Amino acid sequence: MSTITTRKADHKIDPIHLERWSSRAFSSKPVEDAKLHSIFEAARWAPSAANWQPWHFVYAEQQEDLAKFHSFIYEANVEWCKEAPVLVAVISKKTRNDEGDANITHAFDTGTAWGYLSLEAARQGLLTHGMGGFDRDKAKEVLEIPEEYEVQAVIAIGYHDPEAPLSEKNKAREVPSDRRPLDEFLFEGSFKK
Ligand SMILES: Cc1cc2nc3c(=O)[nH]c(=O)nc-3n(C[C@H](O)[C@H](O)[C@H](O)COP(=O)(O)O)c2cc1C
Repeated sequence: MSTITTRKADHKIDPIHLERWSSRAFSSKPVEDAKLHSIFEAARWAPSAANWQPWHFVYAEQQEDLAKFHSFIYEANVEWCKEAPVLVAVISKKTRNDEGDANITHAFDTGTAWGYLSLEAARQGLLTHGMGGFDRDKAKEVLEIPEEYEVQAVIAIGYHDPEAPLSEKNKAREVPSDRRPLDEFLFEGSFKK
């Protein structure tokens, strides 16, 4: 992965938080199984309410499986993610027991697992790029996901290739983004507008 030098933190943090970014310039070079296992292992150790671990992942790296993902990801995303060697559906289980009682933190906990995964991927020199731009109903149908599960996101995983062919529009987006300062979202005592 390319090293990002333009991002600056206002307070001391591990540099991996700045180095992880969502480039669209993927190499088609396959991802080693050991690295793939490591990044899902990181997701495995995320905390969750009552340790229910609602996260599930369906990944694709064979051409016929990748084609299934391309069929439900919106065209604007397929345009760049078609080069990515691994695509993953991030899925949460909405229920917490056989009686079908709701797990109200399924999305929160699954988001945490994706966060862990993306940071471990960055440590392994890999790019991850999350996508909300896909047809959720079609994803459930194509991947044969049961009713009580929800597809939260799709992610592309692979190596960075700064020379990857991208549309002019996407080339212009190849700049790591900045963030709002802490004082815009961190409040002491009560929420302040
Ligand atoms: C849940 C989620 C959905 C996203 N959806 C898309 C998407 O559909 N297409 C896209 O190009 N990027 C998508 N992104 C990438 C974000 O735009 C990106 O993470 C954000 O701008 C911050 O940039 P950074 O990841 O480089 O720090 C998504 C990211 C997340 C976490």
